[in-house]
Amino acid sequence: MDQTKIVELLLTAEIYNRFEELNEDDIPKEIRKLFYGKNGINRPLVVKLDVAKRYAGRNVDDVRSLPFIDFNDFNKQFKITSFDLTVKWFLKRGIDAIKRNPVLAYYYQNYDSVGVSYEDVKKLNKPKHSDKEWLKTIIAELEKNEETSDMLGLVRLYSPEDIKVEFHEVALDETQLQEFNKIEVALEKREFLEKIGVTEVGKLLFIGPPGTGKTTTARALSKKLHLPLVEVKLSMITSQFLGETSKNIEKVFEIAKKLNPCILFIDEFDYVAKTRTSDEHAAVKRAVNTLLKSIDEINLVEDGVVLIAATNHPSLLDSAVWRRFDKIIEFPQPSERIRKRIFQLSLSKVPGNFDIDELVELTEGFTGAEIKLVIREAVLNSLLTGKEEVEHELLVQAVRNVRERLNLKISY
Ligand SMILES: Nc1ncnc2c1ncn2[C@@H]1O[C@H](COP(=O)(O)OP(=O)(O)O)[C@@H](O)[C@H]1O
Ligand SMILES: [Mg+2]
Repeated sequence: MDQTKIVELLLTAEIYNRFEELNEDDIPKEIRKLFYGKNGINRPLVVKLDVAKRYAGRNVDDVRSLPFIDFNDFNKQFKITSFDLTVKWFLKRGIDAIKRNPVLAYYYQNYDSVGVSYEDVKKLNKPKHSDKEWLKTIIAELEKNEETSDMLGLVRLYSPEDIKVEFHEVALDETQLQEFNKIEVALEKREFLEKIGVTEVGKLLFIGPPGTGKTTTARALSKKLHLPLVEVKLSMITSQFLGETSKNIEKVFEIAKKLNPCILFIDEFDYVAKTRTSDEHAAVKRAVNTLLKSIDEINLVEDGVVLIAATNHPSLLDSAVWRRFDKIIEFPQPSERIRKRIFQLSLSKVPGNFDIDELVELTEGFTGAEIKLVIREAVLNSLLTGKEEVEHELLVQAVRNVRERLNLKISY
């Protein structure tokens, strides 16, 4: 087992070094992350003892018995001494690895007996921009320069690996899903779209009441599409200093372009527009104009940036803003079907027997956030009585409590 793994590692490094046409996206994620240096991944890939151990476990020494592998005790480095023998040896033992490692598939696809296609294997491999390590090298690069390091303070950056919520854990309706599928194919066919001049894609505006899943969906999309996420709240970059807000907006878009490809998620999108109505300050107008201009100048096809803006108050946005987006995606108060899905998803790991249909009926008008609150309450109340299993009655009771709270909020 360890032997095969370390030979996979050595062979991947060797083939990658030999064929310049292979790039970082061809290397499997688990191998790629061993080789990140200051400026990303550089040729030649050299397999040192510590790297080999991280990949193949402690017993990498087993490999010394293989006649085509050499270990240099002085610089603690493994080396393939006969490429042909290694290739033959690995063909017998590593077929599984060949089928999920594009670098190996690239070489072995010329062997008829293997029946593997490089293109197919590559499709299954996650691209480098989904690596946490890749994001780290970009951040390190931005930190070096004073101007760009200032930018980092304005946004939150997530690698898809850091995002907890899975796309299938968000209850979405058919229309929403279809729009997200379009983004996915547009990303895949970027070059084609550029060639035929269809560039106005990938700018979405999420509208709907608080707690309906807008932020969660933006994050889950980052995970699903393997794209890093640049998250910014407009209220956080708005400054009372003249011109500062405009500069900040420009910087945020600049970061997104540097991260290409990524998702730029602008939350509280109405914040700037809202301030405009309250006082027609010249600086505020300028900020709005900067925002509009920045949106015009960015697109998925050329810059690799999916732009998602979200607002709980769409009526505050003027038509100049609406027009900038290719698609308005509504997040309404969840329908019966969506509420059912949220209950099913959120209760799937909670021990107990539940009448989900009754809960769906009782929670008419609840948002996803309120349904989650109901479940949290019931679970905690259950624990309070010393039980991990949740009784259905406790959920019903929690629905009542949350409903009372909602009514209280409305009456004030
Ligand atoms: N459609 C949904 N599917 C799954 N969870 C949801 C949904 N809508 C809301 N939630 C849950 O409610 C909470 C708040 O959602 P959030 O995305 O912050 O809402 P918004 O950004 O629209 O205010 C999150 O914990 C989220 O998981
Ligand atoms: Mg939100």
